[in-house]
Amino acid sequence: MTALSHDLGTARRPVALSHRLREGTRPEHEQAETSGFVEHLMSGQLDVAAYADLAAQQWAVYRALEDASAAIRSDAQGATLVFDELTRTPEIEKDLTFLVGANWAERITVHPATERYVARLHEVGGSLPAYAAHAYTRYLGDLSGGQIVKRMLERHYGLSQDGLAFYTFTEIPKSKPFKDVYRGRLDALELSPDELDATVAEAQHAFRLNSAMFADLGAVHC
Ligand code: HEM
Repeated sequence: MTALSHDLGTARRPVALSHRLREGTRPEHEQAETSGFVEHLMSGQLDVAAYADLAAQQWAVYRALEDASAAIRSDAQGATLVFDELTRTPEIEKDLTFLVGANWAERITVHPATERYVARLHEVGGSLPAYAAHAYTRYLGDLSGGQIVKRMLERHYGLSQDGLAFYTFTEIPKSKPFKDVYRGRLDALELSPDELDATVAEAQHAFRLNSAMFADLGAVHC
């Protein structure tokens, strides 16, 4: 407590991790959201094949992320961030079966930026700060902007439930209260100041990995 805050009778409270993550990734979020591929996809200028390619990249990313979820569950603090109702890999597999065909695994291409994203998840996903950063970046995004993406895919490409299982959280009927619980779990983590800084830095990195993935997709489809 500083002399001033003591005089004012107010202890200086540390800023909550969820708040730091939101504020600390604002520019990176804007960059990801306005990438050419995302804007073209959202405005109906691409085709179902472009969306299927995005789903293929997401399959590779979520497989690595959810391998990390399974491992971090054995840590008492890590377990507080793992929710079965968020698991996306099986949902993406359903989408790819519909979009690409039963033999999707032989037909998809994982692009170089996606390979780098997956490598990063394998490299750091076992550490709690890094896991928190990557899980936050994807899952809170899927529950937020992901729902807008879903509506645009329905509107522009004639998709409905088939092909959009990834964006459909059947066990999370209302995303707002769920996101509040998730932010509460982030804020309850017992992390040192250095670990908190590392979490925000890794989330910024996670956003940049997503932007690089969109750049690869843009080079193919835009
Ligand atoms: C079409 C592109 C996107 C749109 C339209 C979009 C839109 C939004 C909106 C409106 C919110 C605020 C929701 C709320 O206040 O609860 C949000 C939050 C979020 N988005 Fe996005 N987003 C997009 C892409 C992305 C991408 C590519 C990522 C990362 C991979 C991402 C990650 C996040 C995260 C982590 C949050 C939660 C922020 C927080 O409350 O801490 N978004 N997005």
